[in-house]
This record gives sequence, structure tokens and C-alpha cells, in this order.
Amino acid sequence: MKVTIIGTGYVGLPTGVCLAEFGNKVMCADKDVSKIDKLKRGEVTLYEKDLEELLNKNLNSGQIKFTSSIKEAVSKADIIIIAVGTPPNPVTHEADLQYIFKAAEEISPYIKDNATIAIKSTVPVGTGDKVEMLIRNKNNDVKFDLISLPEFLREGYAIYDFMNPDRIVVGTDSERAYKQIQALYKTSYYKEKMIKVSRRSSELIKYASNAFLAMKIQFINELANLCESVDADILEVSYGMGKDSRIGNKFLNAGIGYGGSCFPKDTQALSYIAKLNNVKLNLVDETILGNYLRIKQMANRILDAVKEIKNPKIAILGLAFKNGTDDCRESPSINIIKEILNKTNANISAYDPKAMENAYKILGDKIKYAKNEYEASENADVLVILTEWGEFANIDLDIIESKMQHKKILDFKNMLNYKLVLEKGFSYSRIGRK
Ligand code: UDX
Repeated sequence: MKVTIIGTGYVGLPTGVCLAEFGNKVMCADKDVSKIDKLKRGEVTLYEKDLEELLNKNLNSGQIKFTSSIKEAVSKADIIIIAVGTPPNPVTHEADLQYIFKAAEEISPYIKDNATIAIKSTVPVGTGDKVEMLIRNKNNDVKFDLISLPEFLREGYAIYDFMNPDRIVVGTDSERAYKQIQALYKTSYYKEKMIKVSRRSSELIKYASNAFLAMKIQFINELANLCESVDADILEVSYGMGKDSRIGNKFLNAGIGYGGSCFPKDTQALSYIAKLNNVKLNLVDETILGNYLRIKQMANRILDAVKEIKNPKIAILGLAFKNGTDDCRESPSINIIKEILNKTNANISAYDPKAMENAYKILGDKIKYAKNEYEASENADVLVILTEWGEFANIDLDIIESKMQHKKILDFKNMLNYKLVLEKGFSYSRIGRK
């Protein structure tokens, strides 16, 4: 099967590499010529576990190719997957579809007969209808099917999730297009995971899934607040809840609020769709508000810890929106730092194993960037853990103690060994537990 992917971002690139690994002939297209040049050389343009290795394997075997020419990418493709960004409109928060429409316009002249065009980007209900119309207006002669094929990949685990999906949602009424997607995934293992639904349902499944998971996180974060007040332990509570198979144990980790390129944007976009249709999604709206307030709450907790100190020094561990990625888009850690900087003249020194470059693009010289955890804690009045990188669980507390001005740790990812931290004489505070 010849597949073309339009867009080589966090979704497009892992998708292309995995489909090549399945034995398809994949062509990835992107307007960014320097990005394409790098990818042609086997250099990854974003951090994703196992991506570089699989990319080079499939480049060497000729299964995957890269181009910045839309004509070259599209003219021979059986399936064209659109995986461009749908960033939020800064005012209304609706999904901005300009890149989708642009891609549709550009591929229109080159689509071959009986091709399937799949929208993988997260788009509002009804976008498939608009894109289909747009292409038909541009090229009335070609026969094609336009389907919805949403992605459910988590950043940092994109390759794993692609290879081990819970479900593959295919939104189409066309039996022909459905068979083509089945052929793309090759084995019966994947065919059994496929769910054929209408295009509109498929578009909504993506938003509904992300909003539900975001809501679960907001719920457990609120419950963590209660645990702190009634001296219960959020880890025990979420463990006990998660043992009920109707609830499930995933996405019940209390923390500093959700971030990333999906949950914040998709909850807002879903709320916008509901409002447009005069439907109330109160739980989604409360989730959005609650997550916004969570950032303020966390920033205030940090400021409270240093309120006696003039020009305090705050050490931050973790800048990425979660572990396993270099992505800082809507990172709660970055938003907390911004909130602190808005309110005080604190000196912040931060360290993240992967996200320093991306954090610098957002925060610039407003904070200091340390080489490691120990450099970050030099003369610090408080050390705060904001991203759950495994290595933070193993920091050497003796070294940290020798570097810090005041022995105070705020462990907002519940990572450290409680007894050990107290033994070393730190003042220690966590999320949802003593
Ligand atoms: C998410 C969805 O999981 C994925 O299916 C979809 O395709 C894209 O959006 P991603 O944004 O990569 O994936 O991150 P995810 O692992 O879902 O985490 C999102 C945010 O929620 C992160 O900030 C994370 O730290 C937070 N989170 C997650 C919690 O605070 N608690 C949890 O229990 C789980």
C-alpha cells in the first residue's frame, strides 16, 4: 500500500514510521524544507522513544521517504493521511482549521482515482464534510473517499501506542475505504481492533475521549485537595477506586493539572462545539476552569513556601508537560513558572532532562537553566518537582542538602521516599498526602 502523510509533527512522523514498519511504502511530506532534509538524513526532529531507530531502519530499507513536494507525495498514493496541526484560536479557543484546508487545497489536483483521504488531525464535527466539499470543488473528476481516522497516541509512547492500540476508529460509510484502511494495518490483530463508525461520530469520539480523561484528572486533583484536608492518602484512594473495573486505574494520578498539546486544546474546542450547538457540557467546562485554577493553586503553594524570604531562589525540576517528551506546549510546569514570575521577583533555576531547548523558546532568559538537578538546587530556598521524570526519584538527597540554602522540598509528583526525605531533615510536602 502506498501511503502519504501530510505533516511530520508529533502525530505524522510516528504514524509514518510505524506504517513503514508494517510494510507499507510511506512518503512523508512537510513544507519545512530543513525538517525534511534532517529526516532524510535519519535525524529525528522531535524526541519520541524508539523513533530514531525505527526511522533509520525504514529509511535504509527504502520503506519511508521524505519530500517537500506535494505533487511527488500525493500523485501515487493509495491513502493520504492529513496530520497537520489544529491549534486553538487564541480568542474563541475553537480549533483553527486553516492548515487542514490548506493541505486539502494543495493535494486536490494530484489525488489519484479511488484514493482514500484520511483526516488524522483532531477536528470539530463536520470538518470531514467541509474538506470533502472543498476537494470536490477543486477537482470534480477524481473519485475518492474522505474518512476520519483519529489518533490516540500519547506523546512519549507514540510508537508503543501505535503498535498496541486499544482501538482503531475509522469514520466512514464507505466499505471500500474501510477495506483500504484494513489493508494498511496488514494483520488480523489490528483488523480486530477496528471500529467502523460514521465520520461525524469518529470526529466526536476523539474529543470525547480526551475530555473524559481530562475530567478524570481534574476529579482526582480535587479529591487530592480533600485528602490533604482530612488526612487521607490520595495514592490509596485512587488505588482503591481504580480496582473497580468500571472505573479503571488509569488517569487517576493526582498532580499539578493536565497539559500538553491535546487536553487543554481539545477540552476547549469541545466546549466551543457544544456552545455553538446550544448544548451544555457542564462537566467539561468545570474541568477547564478547575485545571486553570490548579496552576494558580500550585504556584501559590510554592510562593507560600518562600514567603518569609526576600528574593527567594526556587529550584524547579521538570519543564516538559509530562515525562518521556521534550514538549513544553501548555506545560503546567511552564505555566506555574509564568505565574510565579508574574507575582514575584523570585530567581528560578530549572532543569529538565529533555525539554531545556523548548522551554527556552517560551521562557527565554526569565529563568536560569541548570545542567542537572544539583546545579538547579544551588543556594535554593525550595526545590519543587513538577515533571515525573524517573531520574528525579533517585536524586542524591545528601548532595541536594549540601547545595540548598533552606531544606525544603515540594514534591508535586509524589516521587520521593517520604521517610528518607524526612530522615535527611527536609521540610517536605506532597500532593494529596501527608
Ligand atoms: C493525550 C491522550 O492520552 C492521547 O490519547 C491523545 O491522542 C493525545 O492526548 P498526551 O497529550 O501525550 O496524550 O498526554 P497524556 O499522557 O494523556 O497526559 C496528558 C496530561 O495529563 C499530562 O500533563 C499529564 O501529566 C497529565 N496526567 C495524565 C495527569 O496529571 N494524571 C494522570 O493520571 C494522567
